[in-house]
Amino acid sequence: MKIQAVTGSLKEIEADALVVGLYAEEQLSGPAAQVDGAIGGQIGRLLASGEINTGSGQVTTILAPAGVKAGQVVCVGLGRRAVLDAGAAFRTAGAASHTLAARPRAKVAYALGDDWKPELHEAAICGAVVGCQADDLYRKEKKRHPIGELLWSHADAATLQSGLLLGECMNFTRRLVDEPADVMYPESFAAEAGHVARDFNLEIDVWGRKRLEDERCGSLLAVAKGSSRDPQLVMVHYRGAKSATAPTLALVGKGVTFDSGGLSIKTNEQMKVMKCDMAGAATVLGAVRAIAGLKLPVNVSGYMGLVENMTGPAAFKLGDVLKSRAGITIEVHNTDAEGRLVLADVLTVANERKPARIVDLATLTGACMVALGENAAGLMTNNQSWCDEVSAAAHEAGEPVWQLPMFEEFAEQISSRVADIKNTGEGRYGGAMTAAKLLERFVGDTPWTHIDIAGPAYAEKPKPWLDGGGTGALLRTLVQLARRAEWV
Ligand code: BES
Ligand code: MN
Ligand code: ZN
Repeated sequence: MKIQAVTGSLKEIEADALVVGLYAEEQLSGPAAQVDGAIGGQIGRLLASGEINTGSGQVTTILAPAGVKAGQVVCVGLGRRAVLDAGAAFRTAGAASHTLAARPRAKVAYALGDDWKPELHEAAICGAVVGCQADDLYRKEKKRHPIGELLWSHADAATLQSGLLLGECMNFTRRLVDEPADVMYPESFAAEAGHVARDFNLEIDVWGRKRLEDERCGSLLAVAKGSSRDPQLVMVHYRGAKSATAPTLALVGKGVTFDSGGLSIKTNEQMKVMKCDMAGAATVLGAVRAIAGLKLPVNVSGYMGLVENMTGPAAFKLGDVLKSRAGITIEVHNTDAEGRLVLADVLTVANERKPARIVDLATLTGACMVALGENAAGLMTNNQSWCDEVSAAAHEAGEPVWQLPMFEEFAEQISSRVADIKNTGEGRYGGAMTAAKLLERFVGDTPWTHIDIAGPAYAEKPKPWLDGGGTGALLRTLVQLARRAEWV
């Protein structure tokens, strides 16, 4: 997609559509008032008659109005001014694009706010780009069509570029998640990472099965045993800091390219969306791509643990005792609690390289969705100030997160009679936290925050601003975290 700044008067813009933003519970102002004037007060009249809804993300189209050169004026509700944050800006612009992209459009102009901070514009541009891509990869008749060119008003050139880049990186992550597991498996994911590394000049290191064996990653390897696909540990390094020895942020992602549950097999209903179980890894790769594309002055490494969790003659079994790279033995009580087994070794590898901070992203537990719903990610940490930092970044990005406790009782639940630990808690209560307590064992004293994205990573149904499938959730939070760079 291309993006260009709008210069001059809105009514002179030649485009398929002109999108204006309308605040709820107030008079028309800014670009909406300007366009209203140009088309003879039509917006005002439709507002007065209640025909236009100004609730956040509500879209009303006025076809072929006289007085503007654009083919249609699209009024999108911004909701109340006081609550318009980056998340609302993202969804609002996304809803307009989502509606318009139902047909091919060469050019669409957006004039949402004339007094917005660059952060709002950036999130909105990102949303406008994300709204155009659907999970229709294998349909002849596409549900969405990328808009040829976005024209954007009242934002500076740097914001246009960063918004577009973030949107493209989110769409990249979303595509990786949306690809079926038979297309996106550990080696093909590693190939995607190779392309990103080449295009963005990243260092890349990939460990295949043999190397993982030599490196004693017994926990990760056990999960891969039931699959015909070789596991991969992909490491990418972006060095944007001035000094080579500057602190590094490690981003670790769960990349289970398909989670059948293994011998503790899932039901059909649970399994049918499990191509999404590599969303953590896809988000890490998309975020590193964005951070490199933005040339942020920081060092960031991405660690992606890629395996397929299958049943099969060689599959790992209940009661098996795994020897992790860290030397901690893990008794398997449920082969469907595989994400933590993969992350145990990946976190160990990441931590050995002495990063200043660690964040991991994982579609780790259904329990986190039970606790927080489908739209919020769960945060769990061994270091409150680092968690606060992650929370602040998420807040700036407008992405909902909520911290869950790391009480000692959850650690007690994963003690095992035969090994150092076991891979599930006692019963299903507190499942998000017992999982996090296992991960905590593998990060040493390094400040670490775990983000459980089981809910927000994948949308089973389309939303008004976004089609179904992979969402790219938390990618903007990771970029924001790298921008804040409080850990440097
Ligand atoms: N990948 C799943 C978690 C998940 C569930 C992600 C729904 C996205 C949507 C994970 O590997 C899993 O199966 N977790 C189990 C753990 C349990 C066996 C202790 C769960 O949450 O049921
Ligand atoms: Mn599982
Ligand atoms: Zn899983």
